[in-house]
Amino acid sequence: MPGTVVGMTSSPHSAVPAIEADGLVKLFGKQRAVDGVSLAVPQGTVYGVLGPNGAGKTTTVRMLATLLRPDGGRARVFGHDVVAEPNAVRSLVGVTGQYASVDEDLSATENLMIFSRLLGLSGRDAKRKSTELLEEFGLTEAADKPLKNFSGGMRRRLDLAASLISHPPLLFLDEPTTGLDPRTRAQMWDTIRRLVADGSTVLLTTQYLDEADQLADRIAVIDRGRVIADGTANELKASVGTSSLGLVLVDRTDTERARVILSGFLGVEVSVTPEAGGLTAPLTDASITPELLIRLRDEGIAVDEITVQKPSLDEVFLTITGHDAPGDTTEPERSIA
Ligand SMILES: Nc1ncnc2c1ncn2[C@@H]1O[C@H](COP(=O)(O)OP(=O)(O)OP(=O)(O)O)[C@@H](O)[C@H]1O
Ligand SMILES: [Mg+2]
Repeated sequence: MPGTVVGMTSSPHSAVPAIEADGLVKLFGKQRAVDGVSLAVPQGTVYGVLGPNGAGKTTTVRMLATLLRPDGGRARVFGHDVVAEPNAVRSLVGVTGQYASVDEDLSATENLMIFSRLLGLSGRDAKRKSTELLEEFGLTEAADKPLKNFSGGMRRRLDLAASLISHPPLLFLDEPTTGLDPRTRAQMWDTIRRLVADGSTVLLTTQYLDEADQLADRIAVIDRGRVIADGTANELKASVGTSSLGLVLVDRTDTERARVILSGFLGVEVSVTPEAGGLTAPLTDASITPELLIRLRDEGIAVDEITVQKPSLDEVFLTITGHDAPGDTTEPERSIA
């Protein structure tokens, strides 16, 4: 059709990032919950925002989705300013996750019908769309049950289904799999991949490195309201070491000597774990492990236990920030200027 020519060269549509945030700030009282977050999310990609409890993920999402007004910085969604053009932004985004977006006493069908009608679908279209989505999310059998009888996984899927009624080009998924069992989690991942294959852009918040790894083209690690690292999953892993080595020694008086030997051998910082006799280190190449054991044996250090684990969010944080991620109650020493 002739109209397609327009889209080929000068149209901004495909070139415009789905999200462009520049120095977003949100204050709650004196607390800088979001403290200068900048993000660039190209269309058709999955962007992972990875961070521990209280890092500022939900607050960032809410500002981008026009649900919360930023106290500083600016953000555009498909070129539309979230503060100046909230309606344009709202028409392009779907939000799901940590919001009570559904009514407990109503059935799944009723909830989807209500959302559909709110979005302006006719009764007939609303019914069709609801049936379609319930099927897509494997909720057909539970369609008439009230939500209070739904499991966590079913709720999550219904919540995502609700956010897809309007088929938004940009979806905010706020911790879509937190608390789900592994099978439901894998289903959710498949659904997200399918959405992106259909052309959607997804901003996904998560506390799980493996989830960001599975789904996200790029990942921003956020901590205390700031982006402390960003890049592809491989880039982040490289900064952390792809795995984590754990050693328990037979004789704990060897600990310090073993630490020095391992540090020299691996060329990285080796930490002593709280239980004396334990050592941990980031490990980029797991195939080095046998050599390492030989080295320790040659030094007369006996190893009781050895483990090699994929990196956890804790290790990402420890490596990048130098402090532990969860349960950090220290007062941030920052002014609110
Ligand atoms: N409405 C609010 N009023 C006051 N403080 C808030 C409010 N919302 C969030 N906060 C605070 O802002 C900080 C960031 O919260 P946010 O919910 O954005 O974190 P999060 O990364 O989404 O955490 P989680 O993984 O637990 O969902 C937290 O310290 C939180 O207590
Ligand atoms: Mg949150």
